[in-house]
Amino acid sequence: MAKSRSIFMCLECGTSHERHMGRCPDCGTFNSLKEHRLGSHSKEPASRLTIEKTSAVPITQVEANEEDRITTGMREVDRVLGGGLVPGCGMLLSGEPGVGKSTLLLQIAQAISLTGKRFLYITGEESAAQVRLRADRIGASSQELWLLSECDLDTIEQQILANKPAVVGIDSIQTLRWEEIPAGAGGVVQVREVTSRLMTLSRREGFPLLLVGHVTKDGGVAGPRALEHMVDGVLQFEGERGHALRVLRGLKNRFGSTEEVGIFEMRSDGLAEVENPSGLLLGDRPHNAPGSAAAAVLEGTRPLLVEIQALVTPAAHGAPARKTSGIDNGRLSMLAAVLEKRLGVPLGGCDIHANAVGGVKLRGTAGDLALAAAILSSFHDRALPKDVIFAGEVGLLGEVRPVPGTRQRLEEASRLGFKSACLAPNSLEGSGPDGMRLHETPELANLARRFVE
Ligand code: TYD
Ligand code: MG
Repeated sequence: MAKSRSIFMCLECGTSHERHMGRCPDCGTFNSLKEHRLGSHSKEPASRLTIEKTSAVPITQVEANEEDRITTGMREVDRVLGGGLVPGCGMLLSGEPGVGKSTLLLQIAQAISLTGKRFLYITGEESAAQVRLRADRIGASSQELWLLSECDLDTIEQQILANKPAVVGIDSIQTLRWEEIPAGAGGVVQVREVTSRLMTLSRREGFPLLLVGHVTKDGGVAGPRALEHMVDGVLQFEGERGHALRVLRGLKNRFGSTEEVGIFEMRSDGLAEVENPSGLLLGDRPHNAPGSAAAAVLEGTRPLLVEIQALVTPAAHGAPARKTSGIDNGRLSMLAAVLEKRLGVPLGGCDIHANAVGGVKLRGTAGDLALAAAILSSFHDRALPKDVIFAGEVGLLGEVRPVPGTRQRLEEASRLGFKSACLAPNSLEGSGPDGMRLHETPELANLARRFVE
């Protein structure tokens, strides 16, 4: 039996120490160490447990089958996971409150349990009856989908061992509590220790574990990204309030690529997988509207066509406004400055609003050319031709640079009926897909001359 002793845990960063100190040596916070007595019968925090005694073996003798992966049965989820859940893995499903994490987890639970594998859905946020109601709404009910409404980690562990589920999902990690840890539920210390104990259990028993985690306001998962290094993968679920589009992104994945994204639409009966997001996004693009340009961007490895809108108006008073939604504010300011300096467009006296339509977040620089085109189009009040797709990065000198994956982007555009592309010289080897016309644009000045002036 282990001897009774104390450890000192930092309530700020969750590290534990052998002795008391006035200042945590890990995070530097003063007076944050609290004594925690480990009873003689108690387990140590799971992070200190060793699973079992093991010995080294040649890699060729290690058994590992791709077939062991448990597919979720949801194409968009499997794509992000790299083909399915690996036995014993711990994956974190993170996202802001209200984005649809519980719905996604329940749909994954439904899909897996329909293949005859038992899924234990543990909720610390809702009652089992509430989950049942939601399940009815999204049409999820299956003999192998089991529910447990519980926050106490000891009970949860017993239930997992007793019911032998093939996969366990927990909603959410912030609601669970391990009695022995002195800190409150949802704090960094609890969350870290609870996760660590669950991960140990999942590895030992071999079931994949899906943990829902709310992202805090600053974008960290459960405190300062305390969990990301502990789990095997982090899947981030993103979406804009008021929009139906949802993107599942692999931020970390020990068992697959982080380049893949899954795309969903939130409907009244749950999440629907979207195979053709560009069609969804460009569906109701207006005709002949100044300030609208179509950009071909990449979400992971998937080309996505997005409408970029800009509205340029005389500045009302004071400093000109630069307001964006789904677009990096700094990128807009930079493009406005380049347009002013290189093309002499007097944007310094104008407010500029810019949006990526449909709740998409524009990442990287490939949307620069479309954004510049939209700004010019709004400034001159001249609509761009509707069948031109833009793909290019803009530099500080006003030069246009090629972007990776241009052919993929143009193929997607061609599929959706775009007839020509505006891009940097040498973006593409050979001709455009399906006879698409290519407007090579070395500089923003060429863009302005061709399309808007
Ligand atoms: P939820 O999964 O509860 O989000 P989270 O667990 O991330 O906090 O879902 C949040 C929103 O999704 C909720 O405001 C309502 C909406 N929703 C639908 O539009 N359709 C549905 O079928 C469901 C279940 C939810
Ligand atoms: Mg929820």
